[in-house]
Amino acid sequence: MTKELDWSNLGFAYIKTPFRYVAKFRGGKWSDGELTTDDTVTISECAGVLQYAQTCFEGLKAYRTEDGRIVTFRPDLNAERMAQSAARLEMPVFPEDRFVCAVERVVAANRQFVPPYGSGATLYIRPVMFASSPVIGVKPAEEYEMRIFCTPVGPYFKGGAKPITIRVSDFDRAAPRGTGHIKAGLNYAMSLHAIVDAHANGYDENMYLDPATRSFVEETGGANFLFVTKDGTVVTPKSDSILPSITRRSLCYVAEKILGMKVEHRPVRLSEVKDFAECGLCGTAAVISPVGKIIDHGEEICLPSGMDEMGPVTKKLYDTLTGIQMGRLPAPEGWVREIK
Ligand code: PLP
Ligand code: COI
Repeated sequence: MTKELDWSNLGFAYIKTPFRYVAKFRGGKWSDGELTTDDTVTISECAGVLQYAQTCFEGLKAYRTEDGRIVTFRPDLNAERMAQSAARLEMPVFPEDRFVCAVERVVAANRQFVPPYGSGATLYIRPVMFASSPVIGVKPAEEYEMRIFCTPVGPYFKGGAKPITIRVSDFDRAAPRGTGHIKAGLNYAMSLHAIVDAHANGYDENMYLDPATRSFVEETGGANFLFVTKDGTVVTPKSDSILPSITRRSLCYVAEKILGMKVEHRPVRLSEVKDFAECGLCGTAAVISPVGKIIDHGEEICLPSGMDEMGPVTKKLYDTLTGIQMGRLPAPEGWVREIK
């Protein structure tokens, strides 16, 4: 049974669902982990997460397929990235197989909140790990909590597939050799002022540049870029300080191996963006959100695909990826896992 919610009008906002998974790291090992209905956390005021932002998270979705099954998309890659994030932040790694299993338990327990096929909504799953024991000197904590909860969501950008307008940001997101390549909470705290300022000035998102030279495109606050050249090549920016998006890696595979397109993953100069035919933001939350206009300090870069709809290549990629996720198209081996 699916809950009666106004699925087609959901925004990207938190709705509490009944069950979440909790495991605790104490005395050097992870507890067995269990489902609980308690959505609250009690920790010391001096907990590592509160003092020094020792926390990382993940984001993935569960989908209702055309034939009514519930599936997740490549959760093993989220498990792997969470392990990389934890290691970089001196946090204990949560075993990858247990991560996938726990995600499945949470989705199964909250199955009535998996939105119906075709509603435009999905179930967003948020694994999060944080330092729960006190630290006052700057050092890693000794105890940690891993939680996985979920919430039904609609499109990340209001208007869904409508092209958005972004600006080149004067703020930087992640330093070279810093933490841009992991999903650390601190990267997002850093971006809050920039996004509030962007919204206040009428922009939907920020395009961050490489902080060292400010001449290469990095990513936005919550998605990687994907460009299409006028001759139909898919180009995605390469940098050590952007998050290795699972959506972007999947789209590049789809473009190359399924659609037979040319794909380039390479540094992308801001100066070449005006020559692209299409631009999109890709990520779990964003799926592919088309970008119609980029403002670089008063100078407008208008993508030829325009402000009314997605460009044709972006659309093809979008249809193929969501087709795989919703079971309309065959999935490459191991990409889709059914929740029983
Ligand atoms: N870049 C950033 C900064 C993100 O927060 C996200 C979201 O997870 C992405 C890119 C997209 O990554 P993925 O496709 O794995 O969701
Ligand atoms: C995601 O796409 O899963 C993200 O984490 C992006 C955003 C909600 C921060």
